[in-house]
Amino acid sequence: MRDMKKIFLLLFLLVFGAAVLAACAKEETEQNSEGEPEEKKLTIGMSFDSFVIERWQRDRDIFVQAAKEMGAEVNVQNANGEAEEQKKQIEYFIEKKVDVIVIVCIDSDGLTEPIKKAKEAGIPVVAYDRLINNADIDLYISFDNEMVGTLMAQSLIDNGVRGGRVIMLGGSPSDNNVSLVENAFEAVMKQNRVTIVDRMHCDGWRAELAADYIYSHREQVMDCDAIMCGNDNLASQVVNALAVQRLAGKRLVTGQDADLEACQRIVEGTQIMTVYKPVEKLARRAAECAVALAEGRKVQDSDTGSIDNGMKEVPYVRLEPVPVNRENLDEIIIDSGFHTKEEVYLNIK
Ligand code: BGC
Repeated sequence: MRDMKKIFLLLFLLVFGAAVLAACAKEETEQNSEGEPEEKKLTIGMSFDSFVIERWQRDRDIFVQAAKEMGAEVNVQNANGEAEEQKKQIEYFIEKKVDVIVIVCIDSDGLTEPIKKAKEAGIPVVAYDRLINNADIDLYISFDNEMVGTLMAQSLIDNGVRGGRVIMLGGSPSDNNVSLVENAFEAVMKQNRVTIVDRMHCDGWRAELAADYIYSHREQVMDCDAIMCGNDNLASQVVNALAVQRLAGKRLVTGQDADLEACQRIVEGTQIMTVYKPVEKLARRAAECAVALAEGRKVQDSDTGSIDNGMKEVPYVRLEPVPVNRENLDEIIIDSGFHTKEEVYLNIK
């Protein structure tokens, strides 16, 4: 009898123990599916030159949103135009073990070392909008900058500058895009016997330097037909300075980015053209590519070519820029929703 009791007790303990274990296991699986996220999210480290220029805020917002839709999160850093700060940000991303680094570089020739470290840590690197030279980058994604220069030049020729005189006020000499735009611009000027009266670069894309130029070079300004400005922000300062001298609308001014104020100047007649770069396309495509690289996939499709950055042939996703002038502005800028009609025609009664 005593033995029977023992057996019952043992059986009871076994069954009870098994039930407790099963309950615990169930609780654990439930916790996994309800509690902590199943997998670690992909992290993208993105370093911007600065957000002074209108377009970069759009680039950031669309990139972050697109990445989010693909399940990745973006750690955005702003280097405020400081090349050294940008290097530190890359090092910080390496320490944080992000899955991919995306850079809008300040100094196209100055990132060889930090990128080498990123690659040693197994982190792919994307050059966003501006090529990074002599560095082991995995991808360059940008608008065709040579075409930007050609479009600016062609619009001057179409507006009667053949055989005339032009001043070139370019952007930062350490931005690789600047030489691409300018070389293409000058090629068209040469074909059309246009004289480059004078030229200057605005370090760090500082637009006040372009205004200073106009104030301090009256002779050259009086002597030219057109002023090629490297972007709309430079054009903005140039047109203000021309206005002070009662010359706004009397010199043809170019730009790029389709900033709102540039579009307003185009309809008001103080800027002849801008180059629209559909940033939405660039930012979305770049986010897709960054996620692909982070997941170890290659980025290669019909629109991927390659470009030599001094170290290697880099896969290059090239998007097309579009010239915008008084004739096509409504269609290109307003119909696409880039700016609204009310905003663009704000000062036109
Ligand atoms: C970009 C322009 C921009 C400029 C200043 C260039 O690299 O191509 O769109 O206006 O930088 O930020």
